[in-house]
Amino acid sequence: MQFNIREARAEEAEALLQLWKLTGSGPSVTDTPEHLRMLTEQAADLFLVAEHEGRLIGSILGGWDNWRGHIYRLAVHPHFRRRGLARALAEEIEKRLRARGAKRIYALASTKQEMGVKFWDSLPYEKSKDVPYVRAFADPD
Ligand SMILES: CC(C)(COP(=O)(O)OP(=O)(O)OC[C@H]1O[C@@H](n2cnc3c(N)ncnc32)[C@H](O)[C@@H]1OP(=O)(O)O)[C@@H](O)C(=O)NCCC(=O)NCCS
Repeated sequence: MQFNIREARAEEAEALLQLWKLTGSGPSVTDTPEHLRMLTEQAADLFLVAEHEGRLIGSILGGWDNWRGHIYRLAVHPHFRRRGLARALAEEIEKRLRARGAKRIYALASTKQEMGVKFWDSLPYEKSKDVPYVRAFADPD
């Protein structure tokens, strides 16, 4: 199957939210069209999508905080799974994070769905012994 990996565009915010809903990725407090549009403007090189015949079928979001690389929102449309799409998205974001200076990359695998864990287990990633602590703020203040 032919697919193309490229940077996400501002006008794709709604389509990305739909893809994440369909794939059970999120939602979380960051999942707003405004926030996604901001990412496409300020961190476009780490916000990638996969498209097939003009249709958005996959996504991955990288983060670089000058210390570690992070991977979020890896999602592939159910009709296009097990064709190496997530692997290709992960390879491309790894390349970009390493170019920024990342020596370690943390990928967040949701425990809601076991395929995320299976996917990361299939790559040279180890399950971290550290436990992530999370605090979400619903409001800006
Ligand atoms: C996890 C997900 C992104 C994988 O996407 P994908 O494009 O199907 O993955 P790939 O085809 O690149 O798979 C690469 C390898 O991962 C492993 N893998 C992927 N999905 C798997 C599954 N459902 N069961 C077992 N192993 C799986 C396999 O080893 C696979 O290689 P193989 O097909 O040669 O056996 C996709 O299933 C998805 O969007 N799931 C819902 C959202 C989610 O859980 N995201 C991950 C959050 S970290």
